[in-house]
Amino acid sequence: MCLRDKSDSMNTAEKEEKNNSKLKGKVVVITGASSGIGKAVALSLAKHQPKLVIFARREKKLMQIARTLKEQGIKLLPIVGDIRNRDDREKLIDSTLKVFGSIDVLINNAGLGKANLFLEQPEEEIDELIETNFLSLVKLTQKTVQIMKEQQSGHIVNLSTSLVMLPAYPFAVYNSTKSAIMTFGDSIRKEMKDYGISVSTVFPGPYNTNFHEVAHCGIDKFKVYDVTKLANKIVKLLLKPKDNLIQPWFFSVYSCLSKRSNRFRKKVSIEIGDSILRAKKLAENELKIEKEQIKREKVQIIAQ
Ligand SMILES: NC(=O)c1ccc[n+]([C@@H]2O[C@H](COP(=O)([O-])OP(=O)(O)OC[C@H]3O[C@@H](n4cnc5c(N)ncnc54)[C@H](OP(=O)(O)O)[C@@H]3O)[C@@H](O)[C@H]2O)c1
Repeated sequence: MCLRDKSDSMNTAEKEEKNNSKLKGKVVVITGASSGIGKAVALSLAKHQPKLVIFARREKKLMQIARTLKEQGIKLLPIVGDIRNRDDREKLIDSTLKVFGSIDVLINNAGLGKANLFLEQPEEEIDELIETNFLSLVKLTQKTVQIMKEQQSGHIVNLSTSLVMLPAYPFAVYNSTKSAIMTFGDSIRKEMKDYGISVSTVFPGPYNTNFHEVAHCGIDKFKVYDVTKLANKIVKLLLKPKDNLIQPWFFSVYSCLSKRSNRFRKKVSIEIGDSILRAKKLAENELKIEKEQIKREKVQIIAQ
């Protein structure tokens, strides 16, 4: 028993070393790395010693992460930019090639959701969702796979959402951009395979990131999962590419049920939609109460 344990642990150590060397020195580009999933993946990747390119708009947040990674001896290139901006996307690719000479992995993670009824959604919000989540991803991917084609290797990882299986109604435009990402990945996979490029789609459930705050549906109103666990799974996906990664794992059951039964899909989607709207209303009420409280405090201070 003891002997077996020892050999098992040796195997694990050997496996880990082999896995570590797989990503060592590889150039991994992560968009939307200033918070949430992108940040967690960057930190989780550190032990594999890749060359990391991290990209987002919020410079201060990006530099904080850059400092943490630098302390761990990671070769790093932080780039501040807006994924919707063509010049910024070009800067991302050109600077990466200039500094590191290749792009081995692109993690298309930058994105956002906005919980809103379709009838009430402002046009600018629709533009922002489609441009950020889908259009920019397609354009950045096209430039990147041209480089990967020359290398005859590469891996594209696209962030979709588990909501594509259960399309909750207050996220109509968001869900559509994420379904488009899934279809895009499925459509280019064969063409990319011929050049040694893998394409993966990640379908996360709800995780503890800024997503819910940005989407105006308050994170404390949902059960959310640990983003570090998701990040570790994404790192495993880089070590062993596969077409789809659904997380947490039991969301695969929802995926199966949703494909098999339209009744299930409709019922659960509506239930999730209702709970998102409730959460949004609660978050709005809390904000209103908070604003009124600040106003009262101001009046009191002035009156004193
Ligand atoms: N958390 C979840 O529950 C969940 C579930 C399913 C799917 N997802 C997907 O996972 C991805 C990451 O989201 P998250 O949960 O980690 O949320 P998050 O904490 O809000 O992170 C979003 C990231 O995207 C970046 N970003 C947004 N717009 C950008 C733009 N125009 N240009 C460059 N970067 C931009 C943000 O950086 P800056 O603001 O600094 O630019 C940030 O780093 C998204 O695509 C989201 O749809 C999340």
